[in-house]
Amino acid sequence: MRHQGAAEACTGDNAAAVDVDARHELADADRNLRSGRAGKQAVSAAGPPQGANCSPSGGSAAAQAASVGAHIRAAGPPQGANCSPSGGSAAATAASAEAHIRAAGPPKTAQLHSASGDSAATTAASVEAQQHRAIGPPQGANCSPSGGSAAAIAASVGAQNASAFGYVDGELRVEAVPFAQIAARFGTPCYVYSRAALEGAFGNFDAAFADLPHLVCYAMKANSNLAVLNLLARAGSGFDIVSGGELARALAAGGDPAKIVFSGVGKTTEEMEAALAAGILCFNVESEAELGLLDTVAAKVGKVAPVSFRVNPDVDPRTHPYISTGLKESKFGIAYADAPALYRRASALPHVGVHGIDCHIGSQVTDLSAYIEAAEKMFDLADRIEADGIALAHIDLGGGLGIRYRDEETIDPYEYALAVRRARGARTHRLLFEPGRFLIGHAGVLLTRVHYLKPGETRDFAIVDAAMNDLIRPALYAAWHSVDPVRPRSDPPRRWQLVGPVCESGDFLAQDRDLALVAGDLLAVRAAGAYGFVMSSNYNSRPRACEVIVDGDRVHLVRPRETLADLFARETTLR
Ligand code: LLP
Repeated sequence: MRHQGAAEACTGDNAAAVDVDARHELADADRNLRSGRAGKQAVSAAGPPQGANCSPSGGSAAAQAASVGAHIRAAGPPQGANCSPSGGSAAATAASAEAHIRAAGPPKTAQLHSASGDSAATTAASVEAQQHRAIGPPQGANCSPSGGSAAAIAASVGAQNASAFGYVDGELRVEAVPFAQIAARFGTPCYVYSRAALEGAFGNFDAAFADLPHLVCYAMKANSNLAVLNLLARAGSGFDIVSGGELARALAAGGDPAKIVFSGVGKTTEEMEAALAAGILCFNVESEAELGLLDTVAAKVGKVAPVSFRVNPDVDPRTHPYISTGLKESKFGIAYADAPALYRRASALPHVGVHGIDCHIGSQVTDLSAYIEAAEKMFDLADRIEADGIALAHIDLGGGLGIRYRDEETIDPYEYALAVRRARGARTHRLLFEPGRFLIGHAGVLLTRVHYLKPGETRDFAIVDAAMNDLIRPALYAAWHSVDPVRPRSDPPRRWQLVGPVCESGDFLAQDRDLALVAGDLLAVRAAGAYGFVMSSNYNSRPRACEVIVDGDRVHLVRPRETLADLFARETTLR
């Protein structure tokens, strides 16, 4: 059986050769590569990955990337220690940790994967984290054979959830499918997701907690396409929902109600009734007023509502203020100090039953210490509540694990799991997690076409056919998304402002990008799988984009492009 892993999808040869086995291996490899550590360390060693997601920039990157693939094929499995961009003792440590784990015979899933050239990998914590990883088929994929090259950067970015995307013969593909083919078939703008990347990310997160009683409840606000939900449900995921609409979607997608938690500060009577009827796992209650209404609604329908309080641990997640939720001044959750009294109150109500406790400190969290602080506070609080004779079945630590959009130092789920394990001590509660972005962010791309080039007096504009209504993150949070040409040109790059057709100056997808562009070129806006399509709108009466999922060499249209008629189909004039 050939080991046609993620690096080959990223760089390799004939896409048509990606067969069913290879596709499974791609998913495996992707899962292995999602371990982030390799990416983090290689990036920090080599500098930010500017346009280097299997790097299009500078004509030779693709060639170098291809050579990574060739190297991997030639070298064959297993490669663990080959992954070091700089050789050195970190690789040796990794190799010996791997040997240790192999000897111990842990379950087969993700691979110990250290590509580090720096000493961080040799710290006890990281080795310990690695030792918690299960070992799977050795891939060596996406590991750089040479130090500090574009290929190393490409590989490192690939290592973080993006390895299903890469260049083959000078053009960008997703799994085995060229983006150009997708654009020709479905038009642009178009959201494109990789099944392997999605399932790989889920597997990676889930495997990190494999030895603890736990449940992953995908925060479906990140991307609620039915097909995405269905794939995750099939992989065993539960769902974190925040509305009746999300409940309906999760159920329609085959989600198990017994794995659904319901967050949000404004649940309505109707939403509570629907969730009670469905038999969800838990309501994450965010205020005393909500508790009162839930008790009343549950009484009306003759049920006992399972509850957890979302507690605000007053921890600064050090992320964008719009997505920080765990500080005192936030609208979310109940005050930490109020929790014991509210739990006593809840336990006295006839139609609510206390099940757990939860928190969510924010999104795009890249600082492990914030998570540690929150986890420690939550475990302490759980002890205090239980000391009042109120048993808690689960502790839900929320979502928020950040991903690398540019050069962020992100948290490896295994390091996170290790920190949680330490904070948990001997407690035995089931742990719940609500990751959104980590599971789907890198699995998606917004495919867009350059419509006009408009050089200006001071700035040059590339007007593309996607706009802020399709992807609002850059306009709303000044978020940075990599933009890769589908067919990189060897002409000298020029500095472009990538803007959409919407009539707002804030309508940009990317600023100051050095690219060689010609009108008609296709561009992939990377890491757009989370909070991309779901936050899109019809502003300027623009139909929303289509969504496709690529699975090996197959492309599934999972949501067609809206039509002009769709835009006002539900509107009427005055009679
Ligand atoms: N749990 C709760 C209660 C949440 O409010 C959220 C996200 C999550 C879990 C998932 O967080 P994640 O793992 O995806 O970071 N639109 C913003 C992100 C908003 C996040 C809102 N809550 C963005 O585009 O960055």
